[in-house]
Amino acid sequence: MRKNITGKSFLFPMPVLILAAYDREGKPQCMNAAWGAVSGRTQVSLCVGPRHKTVEAVRDTGAFTVSIGDAPHEIQCDYVGVVSGNDEPDKFAKAGFHAVKSEHVNAPIIEELKMALECEVISYDEDSHILVGEVVNISVDEAALDGDGNIDVRRLDPLIYDSPNKNYYRFGEYVGKAYSDGHKLEHSSLEELQKKAKKHGHGLIGSLIDKIDGATEEMVVPEHVDIVEPLKELADEIGGAAESMILPKE
Ligand SMILES: Cc1cc2nc3c(=O)[nH]c(=O)nc-3n(C[C@H](O)[C@H](O)[C@H](O)COP(=O)(O)O)c2cc1C
Repeated sequence: MRKNITGKSFLFPMPVLILAAYDREGKPQCMNAAWGAVSGRTQVSLCVGPRHKTVEAVRDTGAFTVSIGDAPHEIQCDYVGVVSGNDEPDKFAKAGFHAVKSEHVNAPIIEELKMALECEVISYDEDSHILVGEVVNISVDEAALDGDGNIDVRRLDPLIYDSPNKNYYRFGEYVGKAYSDGHKLEHSSLEELQKKAKKHGHGLIGSLIDKIDGATEEMVVPEHVDIVEPLKELADEIGGAAESMILPKE
């Protein structure tokens, strides 16, 4: 049985995007915008109403940034979604945000948020409210990068918006490898794969080790102390215990 919902549009997960631009006086403005997505290789689209102070600023300057709202700044991200710069002249500062001008476009980067897409306006449509931007640069705080300089989504800690229930969630756990796991079905059936995974407890131990690895990267541990190996052994032990307790004997 499925329930039908009409007259609405939402996807899961929805991002919490913070749109920012300089207004005519050169003051930074920003707002929460969850109805947004990648719409091309170097293009983003957001559905934002024309009466917002931030949208007025975007249209005046022809540039904007889109920052990824994150869990540590949940209150600030929600604040900029419930208060308008039309009513609160110090909105940006009251949110506790600090602006640095992008080196690539005439728009503010919010220092507190770790990742920002720096965009030039391609178009804004008054009827559909769709703002389209060309992504000229993406800047990421090194606190959100792994040892190889790649963006680490766990360190980015993005907020996820649950539109039907108006809740925010934190990014979840590692599940599998993209552009890879699907190939497994080329060689065996789903039932065979599930049976194998159950027998070896792969999902449980794998995700535990992933979590521990992530945690140890973030913890400050003296260089000569190796805690990863003992933790992996512990994960194996816990995995083994869980397997014998929970999994049916074959
Ligand atoms: C979770 C959340 C998501 C939102 N998403 C959007 C959106 O996608 N488009 C939009 O026009 N307004 C959206 N809003 C509303 C604006 O952020 C809000 O009206 C804000 O006060 C506008 O600020 P401004 O007038 O200072 O620009 C959202 C608000 C919240 C709390």
